[in-house]
Amino acid sequence: MSTGTMKKSHSQWSSRMGFMLAAAGSAVGLGNIWKFPYMAGQMGGSAFVLTYLLFMFVIGLPILVLEWLIGRRGQKNPIHTMEDVAASEGHSKSWRWVGIIGVVGSFLILSFYSVIGGWATDYIVLAAQGSFEGANGDITGKIFESFLGNVNHLLTWHTVFMAVTAFIVAMGVGAGLERACKIMMPGLGILLLVLVGYAAYVSGPSFTAAFKFLFTPDFSAINGTAMLAALGHAFFSLSLGMGIMMAYGSYLGKDVNLLSTACTVVILDVIVAMLSGMAIFPLVFANGLQPGEGPGLIFVTLPIAFGNMAGGTILGVLFFIFLTFAALTSSISLLEPTVELLEEKTPLGRKSATIASSLVIWALGIACLLAFNEWAEVKLFGKNLFDLLDYLTSKIMLPLTGLGTVVFGAWMMNQKRIREELNLNDFWFTVWTVLTRYIVPVAVIIILVYGFL
Ligand code: PFF
Repeated sequence: MSTGTMKKSHSQWSSRMGFMLAAAGSAVGLGNIWKFPYMAGQMGGSAFVLTYLLFMFVIGLPILVLEWLIGRRGQKNPIHTMEDVAASEGHSKSWRWVGIIGVVGSFLILSFYSVIGGWATDYIVLAAQGSFEGANGDITGKIFESFLGNVNHLLTWHTVFMAVTAFIVAMGVGAGLERACKIMMPGLGILLLVLVGYAAYVSGPSFTAAFKFLFTPDFSAINGTAMLAALGHAFFSLSLGMGIMMAYGSYLGKDVNLLSTACTVVILDVIVAMLSGMAIFPLVFANGLQPGEGPGLIFVTLPIAFGNMAGGTILGVLFFIFLTFAALTSSISLLEPTVELLEEKTPLGRKSATIASSLVIWALGIACLLAFNEWAEVKLFGKNLFDLLDYLTSKIMLPLTGLGTVVFGAWMMNQKRIREELNLNDFWFTVWTVLTRYIVPVAVIIILVYGFL
């Protein structure tokens, strides 16, 4: 959802539903379907999954509410919102740094997000060509491998994805996209259900194995690395810590119940991720693939299903179309903050600001894309560029801005007013206070420190 567009056409969301769809549009994306399963696979399954679920509700939910609440108060872009709200509460304008780090984070994330968005787009074509017909894990693995090795190909689709994102943001046709998503999102949900059903039907005992892998509590496997990854992913998957939800909050009417809306968004986001996991891991186990395969996981596993089920070609095409749309509603939300900032701080107009920022993001994306082939051996701090950017954003920047938001919301703002705004009774206000003042900040600090040891 292009927030700039919303500003011009109406100063507030037309309905609670419209707002929720936009927020869910930003939240639900590649993070749920592409990133969640491969991280779960790399981190050994349930330890990561259960920690992620816990963090979504205990840490993500309150921060989501606070981002909206602060955004609704400030009614501006994240940086000026932080400045104004801090000033109005009698604090230093330096709180703007929470907004600044957020904008830089969104910029960096989009550079690799667009590369993966390009993969999803290209897989529409591959599925339509019937490339997966009758394929097993060996074949889909080879298809993916040769796909990754073809730099021109990856570059083309990264360029297409970034260009479409920039076009939507520059032209402000986000509303049209949002309308399309009202059909695509439920469609994606239904297709995921079909895939889970298919996985259950064909993979027999592997389905149970997948369920155990993802959900059997095994607390011995929880370590600092898995916890930090789960925290970072909770932020990533709810689009938190980048000022994006704050910007969305600035278009919210006073009558919207932040808590119940946030619960709905978190639950939706979690459901999509879990469905994706349950569609993918039975196929991983049934086909002898590696759970820790990495970023290629869904591109290697799901095509096996499409290649072997009745009507698989058409379902595959639809799936990757829906996935591309889900990625686009997230990518436009990632581009918006940079464009908004350039528009306000430089003489550039909206179109030039979009073109300028997209070009830089696109160029950085090329470097990420080369990390999968020609530059695979180019490493900084032991990581290739793709891993490095992911690490820097998800594991450092997002938790830090999230921490800034919750400390600001719980310690710097007038709590009585927040209580009225959230409409909390005594009991829930106590829960809220304990959570936002102590549990969330302390947990984030411990996880950050522990994760780096
Ligand atoms: N939440 C999106 C996803 O899970 O794919 C990704 C994302 C969008 C992250 C917007 C951050 C953001 F601000």
